Amino acid sequence: MKVLVVGNGGREHALAWKLLQSPTVEKVFCTPGNGGTALLENCENVPIPVDDFASMKQLVQEKGIELVVVGPELPLSLGIADYLQSHGVKVFGPSRKGAYLEASKSWAKELMRKAGIPTASSAVFTDRESAKAYIRQQGAPIVVKADGLAAGKGVVVAKTETEALAAVDHLFDQQFSKLVIEEFLTGQEVSVLAVTDGNTIVPLIPSQDHKQIGEGDTGANTGGMGAYAPTPILDEKLSRRVYEEILQPALTQLQKDNIDYVGVIYAGLMITPEGNPKVLEFNCRFGDPETQAVLSLLKTPLADIFLACTEKRLALLPPLQWEEGFAVCVILAAGGYPGSYRKGDVITGIDLAEKEGVMVFHAGTKLVDGQLLTDGGRVLGVTGKGNTLQQAIDLTYRAVAKIHFPDMYYRRDIGHRVLSR
Ligand code: AMP
Ligand code: GLY
Repeated sequence: MKVLVVGNGGREHALAWKLLQSPTVEKVFCTPGNGGTALLENCENVPIPVDDFASMKQLVQEKGIELVVVGPELPLSLGIADYLQSHGVKVFGPSRKGAYLEASKSWAKELMRKAGIPTASSAVFTDRESAKAYIRQQGAPIVVKADGLAAGKGVVVAKTETEALAAVDHLFDQQFSKLVIEEFLTGQEVSVLAVTDGNTIVPLIPSQDHKQIGEGDTGANTGGMGAYAPTPILDEKLSRRVYEEILQPALTQLQKDNIDYVGVIYAGLMITPEGNPKVLEFNCRFGDPETQAVLSLLKTPLADIFLACTEKRLALLPPLQWEEGFAVCVILAAGGYPGSYRKGDVITGIDLAEKEGVMVFHAGTKLVDGQLLTDGGRVLGVTGKGNTLQQAIDLTYRAVAKIHFPDMYYRRDIGHRVLSR
């Protein structure tokens, strides 16, 4: 089988890499892919932008591609699944309506309300003055969120009222027309990625991302600076609660709303100090960098899972098989990220890192005349495994030390949050 992976991040490199390990997969195409997918055996990058659906359909027809797997939220929210499916193509990824789960926070909140899913209390605003009055009434800390897709930049966790009021102006100034303002929750964040065929939902192993740029969870939020899986924060009992109180009700509500959702439902959770899971956000796709850690431990062929979803027979798939132990992914970023950063610097040492026994996923890289150059804020995701979390961390950082590019930045405390509990 030939498969197309849409996207160009570390997540898509991991998806392509894992798909190629499935016995039924002969070749993977990536649109547009990155330096990492360019180097994978039996993988070919095709320079089609993620929102050029007509060119993708043409590629699928020309190459005899049987399955399309969509990485990022943007093409999903623009209707890539609807378009390709209307041309008879199997797509792993929700329809445009299903993608509202991520593309509109107010829509997701409403779904949670209807389904009785636990989440922070919130209110929706379309004008500055009512939003500000609400903030003054509620006080800080408080969380201000833009309603549309914002590439990770639409959420302000405001410690003070002044900060929250400024966030309202800032977000309305950036053409967002709706805000969700919500209760500030404390606790441990956990990411649960679950696959669904629209009838059955199956969670993957739970992971934990490290969203902030600085060590000790300080500084600006990023797309994610590192992740590990499985996280012991979600024990068996809590995992069952997440399934029963969040995942299954979300799917049932989507069905009631006549949305045939095929793809990933990503539940970003806060486990409160009382030990209750509450939803911070839903995403309509795999997490990045959670996917790099989670898929590193998957034993079931990934293509079998995707086909079971697109062919609506996920209930018949045997339970997913996972390797014992832990996986850790440390993001190597360009200095300055998540603000402005340089591109085009030469990267060295990946081969030496991989000799240590890790997998180096490329996020922002490109291959120019055989030379690997930085091409984004998050550049690489070094991913190592171990029998214990500590062993996985030690191996991963040993490998990280072999890699170099000018101004390379990474957090040295990925995974330590749970070790120091
Ligand atoms: P979101 O895109 O909604 O997940 O928000 C991005 C990040 O902001 C989350 O990963 C959390 O770290 C933080 N965040 C979002 N909502 C809340 C909340 N209600 N309370 C505390 N932190 C939050
Ligand atoms: N790592 C966070 C996300 O993928 O949204």
